[in-house]
Amino acid sequence: MKLGKRLTQIESMITSDYDHIWDCCCDHGFLGMSLLNQQLSAKVHFVDIVPELMLELDNKLSSYFDNNVSDGDRSAWQTHCIDIKNLPLESYSGKQLIIIAGVGGTQTSEFISELCEKYPQLEIDFLLCPVRKLYELRQQLITLKLELKSEILVEENKQFYELILVSKPLATNRNAQAKTVSTTGDQLWHCHNLIELKQAQSYLNNNLKHYQKMHQGVNSPEIGSILKAYQNIDIQLIE
Ligand SMILES: C[S@@+](CC[C@H](N)C(=O)[O-])C[C@H]1O[C@@H](n2cnc3c(N)ncnc32)[C@H](O)[C@@H]1O
Repeated sequence: MKLGKRLTQIESMITSDYDHIWDCCCDHGFLGMSLLNQQLSAKVHFVDIVPELMLELDNKLSSYFDNNVSDGDRSAWQTHCIDIKNLPLESYSGKQLIIIAGVGGTQTSEFISELCEKYPQLEIDFLLCPVRKLYELRQQLITLKLELKSEILVEENKQFYELILVSKPLATNRNAQAKTVSTTGDQLWHCHNLIELKQAQSYLNNNLKHYQKMHQGVNSPEIGSILKAYQNIDIQLIE
């Protein structure tokens, strides 16, 4: 099973120090299955709200992946046909990563807000790859005081995606040195070669065109300030 560029990049951002990885909104479960192939020590949870999808996925996982108990009483994977807002995180101990990819920025923002509110006592990492509404989502990540671990820009089939890895620390355990999320992105615009530079320029142009058009349609101060924020971006080539 070969993942596309976007999912491959998401996978490459996952370190091996998690106990539970939640592939939320997993659809056919390609990302989670690829993680299972890597035989990480983490248990992989597949989550989607559509029962038919999860039934099919459950059958597939049962035939392709051994779910024998190899490590204490822990199986390698589990499926959950639930709304992501109802993730039973409290039932699992250890370090947890929640991946939310392929849904809208507004929806992603709602999911994260609900989970942060529901689980103030848990340290959780979120790996996000939303479709559209990035500025609005980033505003919410800032409001929730999530810490930035890394962010990458990916192009697949002429579409651009921002991949954002953030941490929700405990309120009592905030790191004063931690990086903060910015509304338009930061590391996204630091390019290491000419290909990345060209991609960043195209993505920035897309955003500028989008907000310029919106600004002409509705002359709101809010859209004006988003436009200004993108106009102020300085793309850098880091040798
Ligand atoms: C386009 S697919 C994304 C697949 C994959 N994550 C990716 O990035 O390629 C979106 C999936 O999100 C699921 N979904 C939408 N809302 C959900 C919710 N509230 N809880 C769980 N799954 C949801 C849909 O059923 C669908 O399978």
